[in-house]
Order: sequence, then C-alpha cells, then structure tokens
Amino acid sequence: MSFDRQLFEGFWQLLCHRNELPVQGDFLRFDVPGGEVVVFNDDGELVAFDNRCPHRGARIYQGDHGNQAATCGYHGWTFRKGHLIIPERESFVNCGIETATWRTLPVDWCGDFLFVGIAPRQPLYEQLGKVATLLENISFNIAGRHDFSRYDFECYWPLAVENALEPYHISMVHPSTLGTLALEAGENVFDGKNSVWYAPVGNAAVRKKLATLKRFFQLDFQYEGYMSIYLYPFTMLSSTFGYSYSLQHFLPHPADPDRTSFTSRLLSTPASSPAAQAVIGTFLDSTAQVNRKVFDEDHAICRTMPRDSWSTEPLRFPSASEAKIVHFRASCRDVLR
Ligand code: FES
Ligand SMILES: [Fe+2]
Repeated sequence: MSFDRQLFEGFWQLLCHRNELPVQGDFLRFDVPGGEVVVFNDDGELVAFDNRCPHRGARIYQGDHGNQAATCGYHGWTFRKGHLIIPERESFVNCGIETATWRTLPVDWCGDFLFVGIAPRQPLYEQLGKVATLLENISFNIAGRHDFSRYDFECYWPLAVENALEPYHISMVHPSTLGTLALEAGENVFDGKNSVWYAPVGNAAVRKKLATLKRFFQLDFQYEGYMSIYLYPFTMLSSTFGYSYSLQHFLPHPADPDRTSFTSRLLSTPASSPAAQAVIGTFLDSTAQVNRKVFDEDHAICRTMPRDSWSTEPLRFPSASEAKIVHFRASCRDVLR
C-alpha cells in the first residue's frame, strides 16, 4: 500500500462540521488516496461512504459539495434512511441480492466534528490527544460554512503541508496579507502527531480592531490571537480571534502524484444578534477573499518545490520557526518504521 494511502486509512480524518450539512441530501465529496469519500445528510444523520455504486461501480456524486439524493444516476440504486433501495429488485434472482449493501465507512465524532476512520491505528480520542478538548470547544462555536474553495497545488502534498506548518515564510511570501498581522513567535504545542501554534497578533492597531469585533459574535471559546491546529496527516484548522475557522485539507491528488488536492472551507461562528449577522457576513466575505489571496501566494511558492525536495529526513538547517516541520517529519518516519 502506498505511503499516502497508509496515512489516509490508518488515521482518523476530519471530514466536516455537523452544521455544514444541516439539510437532508447535503453532501461533501473528497478525493482521497485510493478513491473518493462522500459524507451526506441522510435524514438528519451524517453518513460517510465510498462514492462508488455497489451495483456496477458508477460514481454517485460528481461535485465537491451541494444537495442531492444519494441515488446512482445509472440505474437508480438509492441509499435512504439507512437502507439500500433497488429498483426492480425482483429481477435480481439467484444472485444474493439481499447481501448488497451501500459502502458506508466507520465514523466518529469529536464534539460536532465528524471523522472517518477506515482502518485507524488508534481510537479517535487517543489519536487526537489533548487537541480533542480544543476541537470540541471550537466545534460548539461553529454555525455553518460560509465559503468553499478548491485549488490544486502543483507539488507533492507534504510540501504543501510543510509550507502551512511554518511561519518563517510569512514576511517574504505574504507581506500584504497574513504579514500585516505581524504575528509573534508564539508557542508550539505538540501532542502525539498533532501540533498547535498559538501566535499573538503583533500589530497593535490590527489587534485592537479585531478585539472591537467581539461584540458581534456569540462565542464561549476563542483564542485572542492567531491559532493554527495541525491534525496529522492532511488537515489544518486555523483562526484569527476565533471569529471564523479555515478548515483546510491537503490531500494527494487522485490523478497526479505530484499535485496536492487542496480545499479550504471557511466556517462561520454564531452572531450575537440578527443585526450583527449582516456585519459578520461582510467580515466573512473579506476574510474569504484574503484567505484566497494567501492560498494563491502559498501555491505560487509551493510550485517551485520539486518533489525530491521532500523526504522524511530531518531538516538540514531547521530554524526555531520550523519546529513543526521537524515534528511532522518525525511523525512520517514513525509511520514508515
Ligand atoms: S451502477 Fe449504480 S445503479 Fe447501476
Ligand atoms: Fe503561507
């Protein structure tokens, strides 16, 4: 089994927040090593499954997200309310049709975050360690999804992850976007293979402005700075002041091993009042715009990284701000041991 597939199947993967799929038929589709995973709202319950029809293997969902019944477009096999519905079922004779099942996958919850685990090495909460409490707290402060964007990064996925793991490049690559926060060195917290970076906003004017926005939100948890959570191996969740969360996946591209299938979703938090909702909407629109610019900047630099610039070897010249990369590579070596 390839390294990428070993990572996908051997670890719990955060798929989505409960409030991203509030309505029957809401779905999200992910390209993953070895296939595709779909999560959809089946009459109020979130179900994850392999996006291949159990009849003759057609792909059921095509888009990245939307609302659509779990019905195969070829002959109409349908999954609904936990059951497989087969048109003209009586015509399937002597073939054990009663054993046909929709290919659902094991899921588990951390707060309101849904994870899929195909053959996980550990139970979810063991894998998450102390990050679990942080994720739970965040999850209870998320109202829904405001934005979905997809970019293919022209580099092997660990290079895109390592880019996201170090702030050393910010002043060079993001001078007019992320750089304007003037993030301080902050603190890295490591737990198992996961890591969290807490960085105070160094730009006093920006920090003050961000602090004044607090009244528009109804939060019972926030980190008043920039926080970036890395969930080994493919997922990042980052936030400034806890007003919104950027949920990012860096997955191996299904057709091209030298590309990263990168998606970013902007998750919103609850408003303090209906009037505040309009203010938050404008705030989220501009956050989404800035995030897209940051990802473009990251992509422009990641595409200069040839695949052989990544290995599981320790960095030859690690700076203090690259400590999370050192940790990431050690985690990869541990998996390959
Ligand atoms: S392939 Fe899906 S119903 Fe036939
Ligand atoms: Fe970056």
